[in-house]
Amino acid sequence: MSNATDRRLWRDISVFDGLRTLPEPMAVITEGARVTLLTPMREFNEQLANSCIEMGHGGVMTPGLVDCHTHLVFGGSRAEEFEARLEGASYEEIAKRGGGILSTVRATREASEDTLLTLAKPRLEALIADGVTTVEIKSGYGLTVKDELKMLRVARRLGEILPVNVVTTLLGAHALPPEYKDNSDGYIDLVCQEMIPAAVAEGLTDAVDVFCEKIAFSVAQCERVFEAAQRHGLAIKAHAEQLSNLGGTAMAARHGALSADHIEYLDDTGIAAMREAGSVAVILPGAFHTLRETQQPPITALRKAGVPMAVATDANPGSSPLFMPTLMLNLACTLFRMTPQEALAGMTAHGASALGLKEQGRIYEGAVADLCVWNVEAPAELAYAVQPGRLRQRLLQGVVTHG
Ligand code: NIG
Ligand code: FE
Repeated sequence: MSNATDRRLWRDISVFDGLRTLPEPMAVITEGARVTLLTPMREFNEQLANSCIEMGHGGVMTPGLVDCHTHLVFGGSRAEEFEARLEGASYEEIAKRGGGILSTVRATREASEDTLLTLAKPRLEALIADGVTTVEIKSGYGLTVKDELKMLRVARRLGEILPVNVVTTLLGAHALPPEYKDNSDGYIDLVCQEMIPAAVAEGLTDAVDVFCEKIAFSVAQCERVFEAAQRHGLAIKAHAEQLSNLGGTAMAARHGALSADHIEYLDDTGIAAMREAGSVAVILPGAFHTLRETQQPPITALRKAGVPMAVATDANPGSSPLFMPTLMLNLACTLFRMTPQEALAGMTAHGASALGLKEQGRIYEGAVADLCVWNVEAPAELAYAVQPGRLRQRLLQGVVTHG
């Protein structure tokens, strides 16, 4: 690892700044944890090079990738469910018969904190090797106060043992646990009155998420969870409009949600509510692909409305067992016709916004030096080809953690 006080220089590099590709080859200097110079190469003052470590030339620099929606901490495997779905069972049918999320809940409850950490570490290492510098990790496979806190503790520990910024989200309202069968309002009481306060008391969560869907929780129940979260000063977000249009997104937006995620079934009212609230649309092509969905998220309407679109892995054992962020760039383009620039902005600037982070996901003079340098010639190549091993260098707060 390098020293964070070093001054580093990249020359003749193509820079995607989080929102767009800068029009000409650039020189970039970082000093300590910050980007201190971002200038066209033809205007670069050679004298500055004297005090810098030369980091190379050519290639593409992007902000470190921000994977703003993952479920990386879990026990067990869902390969059998994968096979059942290939034989024709739907995600909803499997959930209704106690499989799906609940099968991961059983395995996660059985696993100790240390076991969950050991299982999650290589998953997160895979994201890091593909350029991630900031990752959001949700709970949601514990569904008791004890087991949800256990998951969040693992998420926090991952951020301590690996070179990555971790943002945690409490997703207690992910599925109805068997103990509360026929008493879903009682479970929502538990989430609001015990789970959220306990997570806050231990400083374990940065936000609260819900799964608003027929197979999960109603709009009214999710609203109660948001109100409890907001009483504790927490940010909110929602899994909404993934399998049907219940209006969860519009409700979440009315409460000022950071994001609404999946949103395949989002309608114009929901889009207008998001625009009004400044919520980010988190597009999850991995789940769409894995579940062989056919309902496309309304990309054209979101673009037209100016709703920022993030792209994330949704890495999880059921609907998106895909641990490769740059694959998501490719899928966002091929499945949803997002442009490569939109997809990249979705995993940098807009991914950061979906987490309420102001400092990450952008490159400008003064920005935090969470950066990736890639062995490609143009930013679009990151979405065009699916090819591991293109990361040349990765910096976290100015410290070189790869290359
Ligand atoms: O984002 N939609 C709900 N939750 C997760 C899936 C979790 C699972 O299937 O284990 C998702 O797709
Ligand atoms: Fe999810």
